[in-house]
Amino acid sequence: MTVTAVIGSQWGDEGKGKVVDYFAERMDYVARFNGGNNAGHTVINEFGTFKIHLVPSGIFAKNTVGLIGGGVVIDPAVLIEEIEMLNKAGIGVDGRLWISPRSHLIMPYHKILDGLYEEAKGAGATGTTRRGIGPVFADKVSYNGIRWTDFAREDILTARLKMQIELKNKIIIALGGSALKFDEVFTTYRSYYEKVKPYIRELFSLVQDGLKENKNFLLEQAMGTFLDTDWGTYPFVTASTTIPSAASAGLGIPPRYITNVVGVTKAYTTRVGAGPLPTEIKDYNSDAYKKFGEVAATTGRVRRVGWLDLELVRTAVQLSAVTELCLTKLDVLSGLDEIQVCTKYELDGDTIRYADVDAYDLDKVETVYQTLKGWKEDISKAKSFDALPVNAQIYVKMIEEAAGVPVKWIGVGPERDATIRR
Ligand code: GDP
Ligand code: IMO
Ligand code: MG
Repeated sequence: MTVTAVIGSQWGDEGKGKVVDYFAERMDYVARFNGGNNAGHTVINEFGTFKIHLVPSGIFAKNTVGLIGGGVVIDPAVLIEEIEMLNKAGIGVDGRLWISPRSHLIMPYHKILDGLYEEAKGAGATGTTRRGIGPVFADKVSYNGIRWTDFAREDILTARLKMQIELKNKIIIALGGSALKFDEVFTTYRSYYEKVKPYIRELFSLVQDGLKENKNFLLEQAMGTFLDTDWGTYPFVTASTTIPSAASAGLGIPPRYITNVVGVTKAYTTRVGAGPLPTEIKDYNSDAYKKFGEVAATTGRVRRVGWLDLELVRTAVQLSAVTELCLTKLDVLSGLDEIQVCTKYELDGDTIRYADVDAYDLDKVETVYQTLKGWKEDISKAKSFDALPVNAQIYVKMIEEAAGVPVKWIGVGPERDATIRR
């Protein structure tokens, strides 16, 4: 039995989707355990190019069963669209995709409130994906949530949804929004339930039996380590625990069953939304800025970019007991004369760790850089570590030395096969 968690060691978008798709062939189960459709995971394989928000990225492996745990929050319209899209593409998810009845639903008022809160905060806004994530998790922990299991009892669902809409309309109206109508929401969600019902199944025995039968599990994190509610740059974080321990509550995998934690690390740093990014590159005319530029998979926003931050990676490795790293997007660095890497932070002349400061002080830390020589060669076709230019090899070795764990896989392109295994 193996239970491998794949986690991003930065602020999300490290390439987790690609890595999960790469590992999936050898897995019996691949599961999402946190977040919701704020995630956007890109998979490029023999079936095409996919941007996936809820279904585990390992679903392309025909013999792998996909699980969406109770820790995930679900916008049913997004889920239904995704299932239909995958079935249309010939992936065939029916009978091998199971969704926990414990998972909470993103309701129309969650999305409205997400937007209204962001607008009310103005310059202090988080820059959320506006998918309703903060409000749905707030409802979950304040006993106001609606779960799939509630749809089995229409009288209770009716009473609870009526109450929620009444409550939420008061806030929505106070903030200048338009009130929702119970009948419309109820009818729409009732029809969503009919479509999703065949996929809903309690995961407890499935997971427990799998563990007992020595099956292989792959746990796909959404977001990244530093968007975690507790360990991220609060309040510029997301509303769920993102570190592997979340798989325990979110899926029912006991923590001591996790055997491996793969830390997915982008060869540089990106961030979408507000919050500190100590190594941020603000020279929009620089070669690095032009190379690192990306468009977010969920919202289409332009990602902020920065140099690789080893203090972040080091912290993520410690926090999640990362056993090995997968370095993604090394190919993007090709062509740079010099590459900067942040080796540590200083504040008022003292070396400080990430965990010693809050988000506002993190914005003030001085980043200490090491300059490495770049390489000119296109490495996107490289098949082995030895085939990489010497300076690229030095870059990889420097990362594993700083992190204290080996870099076992290297991404040299967005496609599944563009992966070097060491
Ligand atoms: P995720 O949210 O962690 O799954 O990452 P995203 O899919 O949001 O963003 C990662 C982006 O990098 C996507 O466009 C991927 O196709 C791309 N990508 C992943 N790994 C590599 C790699 O090794 N090289 C290159 N060039 N692109 C990659
Ligand atoms: P994946 O799984 C990058 C960011 C948002 C915002 C903050 C809070 O693709 O790596 P939310 O909508 O969650 O309330 O927004 O979190 N964020 C992500 N950034 N990748 C993601 O997911 C993200 N999910 C949320 O941009 O700053
Ligand atoms: Mg993403």
